[in-house]
Amino acid sequence: MIRVVATTPFDGQKPGTSGLRKKVAVFQQPHYVENFVQSIFDSLEGFEGETLVIGGDGRFYNREAIQIVLKMAAAAGFGRVMIGKGGILSTPAASCVIRKHEAFGGIILSASHNPGGVHGDFGIKYNVGNGGPAPEHVTDAIFERTTSIREYRIFDAPDIDLDTLGITRVGDMVVDVVDPVDDYAELMGTLFDFDAIRDLFASGFTMRFDAMSAVTGPYAHAILEDTLGAAHGTVVNGEPLPDFGGHHPDPNLVHAKELADLLMSDHAPDLGAASDGDGDRNMIIGRGRFVTPSDSLAIIAANAHLTPGYKAGIKGIARSMPTSGSADRVAAKLGVACYETPTGWKFFGNLLDAGLATVCGEESFGTGSNHVREKDGLWAVLMWLNIIAVRRQGVDEIVRAHWAEYGRNYYTRHDYEEVDSAAVDGLMETLRGQLESLPGTVVKGLTIARADDFAYHDPVDGSVTTKQGVRVFFTDQSRIVYRLSGTGTAGATLRVYIERFEPDPARHDQETQAALADLISVARVLPDIEGRTGRTEPSVIT
Ligand code: G6P
Ligand code: ZN
Repeated sequence: MIRVVATTPFDGQKPGTSGLRKKVAVFQQPHYVENFVQSIFDSLEGFEGETLVIGGDGRFYNREAIQIVLKMAAAAGFGRVMIGKGGILSTPAASCVIRKHEAFGGIILSASHNPGGVHGDFGIKYNVGNGGPAPEHVTDAIFERTTSIREYRIFDAPDIDLDTLGITRVGDMVVDVVDPVDDYAELMGTLFDFDAIRDLFASGFTMRFDAMSAVTGPYAHAILEDTLGAAHGTVVNGEPLPDFGGHHPDPNLVHAKELADLLMSDHAPDLGAASDGDGDRNMIIGRGRFVTPSDSLAIIAANAHLTPGYKAGIKGIARSMPTSGSADRVAAKLGVACYETPTGWKFFGNLLDAGLATVCGEESFGTGSNHVREKDGLWAVLMWLNIIAVRRQGVDEIVRAHWAEYGRNYYTRHDYEEVDSAAVDGLMETLRGQLESLPGTVVKGLTIARADDFAYHDPVDGSVTTKQGVRVFFTDQSRIVYRLSGTGTAGATLRVYIERFEPDPARHDQETQAALADLISVARVLPDIEGRTGRTEPSVIT
């Protein structure tokens, strides 16, 4: 029986860079999840009888939210839901399942790399039929709907068993509980040379994959250890926990420090990798060599033709604006286009659908390709393994050879987290007001060549997205970008992206912060970060 429940709007149900993300306690308020889910359904058309994919990263409140979504999907008239066993689906696996089974769309329960647990974050994201995050006109419509919602519809039914594979029903709707790994693992097997990677491991290659007690554990155990023969124990923190074991499941040098330290030590394995809460981010570290996400994108683009799935070559590369320009140099050499998009994976969707780009990447530890419509952490790891297996070179050797051929883009990101929103809004507005006067200005010996506020003109649908970050270019091929994070749940976060191109191989061995020291100090004084935020140092440097 369908129950119609009267409700009133909640403030702030506005999807950010990647869905609606709030503290768990916010989602636990009566009607909060229901309002948002009903607003999603109310914004869509033509899904009667169609399939909806549902899955999450296993964080606290995942199962409760899934029960609500299931019963509301039944009330809304979906014909079938496919749901990962235990309510688990990594974000790239959800994208894969949506595409393979031609689902109408999917609902992913995740706050990605944000901490989980009772006091952590939760999130809900809607993906469309191509498997990718809903484009802005859809998320705008959803938000609009949340502001006027008066009722929602939910099927009155007992909770559905999420832990037994196979088919049950809620009313007329079929509930198909599927293995969360199978479809995804099969797709990976079509893209990469599993035999070559098996030989690599058999020849003694060692690896550590840190699943950070988040969703990739089951995927990594199945693919790396069970299928590809990596030694047992290769995957650590491989069991998804509701609070991620109390850790911050973000694969970077700060939150995956143990892994990074191991790779810099005397007993480092050949490769270290980690993935985030929902499995779409990745970090790659070789023995003694951290690979920046921007370099990883460029190296993957330059070597993808060595793998079966990309042997015909890539059609184009896309990167988010704050990502370094290293991929641009690969694109130029390959004679393919390089697209520069706003931050957020959703902007790659049109380029991938139109066949304009094959590989994409972001500085925020995201890499992926046209195989799904999300970034994909394990895909990046398998890509590196396949490249290593073919080239028979270590990570450090591959990275150095790449720099020698293309030049090195020294790159760092400085984050000022949980700062006062009004203060950083003012900082950005002031910078925007100076765009015309900055060119020609000399700051600490560096001359500004040009400055702008990045706007994106989507070549496929013609849409324009403005105010995506202030870029300051210098005459020596350096760049500083200022941008406010779109994913935080507390206060505001100012991100400062600092980059310099160095063509000379004799100068490729500097420590990054040292190589960029002058630019870093320019980046601080130019908008007077200390004066406006009271912070003398960033809270996180990656
Ligand atoms: C999420 C999105 C990414 C994006 C990142 C940026 O992870 O999936 O596509 O790059 O957020 O986050 P920010 O906090 O910088 O807006
Ligand atoms: Zn994520």
